This record gives sequence, structure tokens and C-alpha cells, in this order.
Amino acid sequence: MIKHTALSLLRDLKAFIGIKKERLDAIDAAPDTAVESSFGVNMLADAMHPDRISLEVKEVKKDRFGSFLVLISGERRTLPSAKPGQFIVIKPSVTGIKYSRAVYIAFAERTSYTVFIPQTDDSEAEKLVNARKGDIFEATSPAGLGFYQPLRDSGNIFVCCDKEGFGASEAFRNDKELQERVKVYTHLAGAVDTENGNSQLSVFLRECKLIDGTLFIFGSEDFVTLIKKTAEDCGLIKKRIRYDIISPGKIFPDEEKKYVCRVKRGSEEFDVLCYGHMPLSASLEYAGVECNINCMSGTCGYCRMKLVSGDISVHFPEGEEPVRMADAKHGFIHPCRSYPLSDLTVII
Ligand code: FES
Repeated sequence: MIKHTALSLLRDLKAFIGIKKERLDAIDAAPDTAVESSFGVNMLADAMHPDRISLEVKEVKKDRFGSFLVLISGERRTLPSAKPGQFIVIKPSVTGIKYSRAVYIAFAERTSYTVFIPQTDDSEAEKLVNARKGDIFEATSPAGLGFYQPLRDSGNIFVCCDKEGFGASEAFRNDKELQERVKVYTHLAGAVDTENGNSQLSVFLRECKLIDGTLFIFGSEDFVTLIKKTAEDCGLIKKRIRYDIISPGKIFPDEEKKYVCRVKRGSEEFDVLCYGHMPLSASLEYAGVECNINCMSGTCGYCRMKLVSGDISVHFPEGEEPVRMADAKHGFIHPCRSYPLSDLTVII
């Protein structure tokens, strides 16, 4: 037995050393010039997951809490595939200004996405809720990691959402393979009262724990943080909790401070008003400055810009990584999660 184990270990070690040499030889033989974008794999990846897609509103279905928009490709193509729990960032052009808004895909087909736009007190979102047939939006490909993975997650699925996350819960409900195993707790109005015991929610979370389910939480940051904590207090283990935050919490609700942001972009240089309670990217977009927004959660780095002077507060939900170290070291910020604390100068 010992001899057998030792031999098998030696075989593995020999194979590993062989692979290492093969890899190093391949790295040495590789050209040090950038890979052409016309390289086959790159073209395939771009076709499957393009940076930007054009979407046209085919239908609007009003709901008490918002609107479902049925979107088709503006170019009449098949759309990148999307899993339940994923979102797209749409950039509607309202009065000529493009601003970014992340919305969950409630139903995905090869040629259409149905997204849910919650009704909020945000006037820009309201314009989106009132979108009309024929409107065209630029959008990102589906993204987000809050989807079901059979090898990682339990077969029993529990989805908890607020109004902002409603689209994601609909996606789980609409998925033919998952719908039989999904239980949904939807909190569409009012504050969640966990201190005085929200009995329906407690029963839901206890059942999830009892049958070893995976809990998916979708919605605004305040809601997700609260439910995550409540679930942990209920005894759910962390690896059984997945979450995705679609909109930042109201972190500076009373802060109405205004600052001037000097923007340097190529040969241009101009000033923009930015607000203490808004992510810098939102202030820039409202002023008509386009930003490369992708995830809106500070994680992808797509929006990065260089902070030349001024102070910002970087806001991340509890327990999440702040701006990646390499970016921070070289003075780059992620404006989708940066709030100004003074006048700023940035290079886009
Ligand atoms: S859009 Fe992804 S980090 Fe800002």
C-alpha cells in the first residue's frame, strides 16, 4: 500500500514537472507583441460577449412597482446569453445625456431580454420606466456573479429580493430548469423590520437553513446588507449565501455638498459640478461626460480614471474588497464607487 502510494506520488510529480517545462517553453516561444484583435479566439469572444450592444424597446408592460421592458437587438442579431441573476447596464439617452443604470434581466431569450425597471423617486429612472416602443439604448453584455452554479450551490434555491432586485427573482422563477426548486421572498414596499421580527422572512430563512438551501439575495445595498446579516444571525453558513447589489445604498443621505471636478480628457479640459451624495461617475454623466461604466459596483475597473488631486471616499459594502491594489497604487479610482470629499482633478 505504502509502495503504491509512493509510486503514484512520484508519477504525479514527474508529470507536474513535465507540464511546468511545457508551459515555460510555450511562454518563451510566445511573441511579446500584443495579440491582434482579429485573432480567432478574440473574435469569437467578442461575438459571444461584445462590450456594447444596441437594444430597442419592443414592448413596455407596466406593473404596480415599475415596468417590464422587452428589448430586442437594435441590429436584429441574437443576443449574448444571460443567466438568471445577471444584469445589464443600460445607457438611455435622456434629453441627449447618456447615464448608466443597472437592471436585472427577468427573462432572456436568444433574441430578446425582458428587464425590470423599478419605480423609484429617482427622476432619471422614472424616464426609463416611461420608455416607449422603438426607443434605442446602448447597453453592456450580461454580467454579475449572482447566478446559480450547480457544482457550487445547493439544489434548493431561495431567492430574496426588494424592488430593485425583483427582476432577478423573476429570472429564477422564469427559468424552466430552476423554477421547480425555487422559493422566493419578495419585499416590494416599506422597510424590512428585522428587529421586531419579520415573521414571514424568518420562516423563509429558517426553512432555507433547515433544508440546506442556497440563499440568493438581490437588490439595493441597504436591503442586501440587512438580509445577509439576518441570514447569518439565523445560522445560515456563508458559503450558502450569494448576493448581488444593483444599486449603492444612500450613504450620505443628508449630504448636499457640491464640488468642482476639473476633467482632463485628451486635449480638452473643463469643469463639472459634482455632488457629495452621488458616485462621481453619476455626477459626470449628468453633466454630459460619458464614462466607461460596466459593473457599477467598483469591481471590474472598466470605469477607472486617474485622480490627480482632491479627496474621495471609496465606498464598498462591508466585507468586500476596495479598489484593486494595483489601481490604488498608481492613483486610479473607480468613479462608480467614489464619492467626492473636495474639489477634484481627474484624467479620463
Ligand atoms: S464600472 Fe466596474 S468598476 Fe466602475
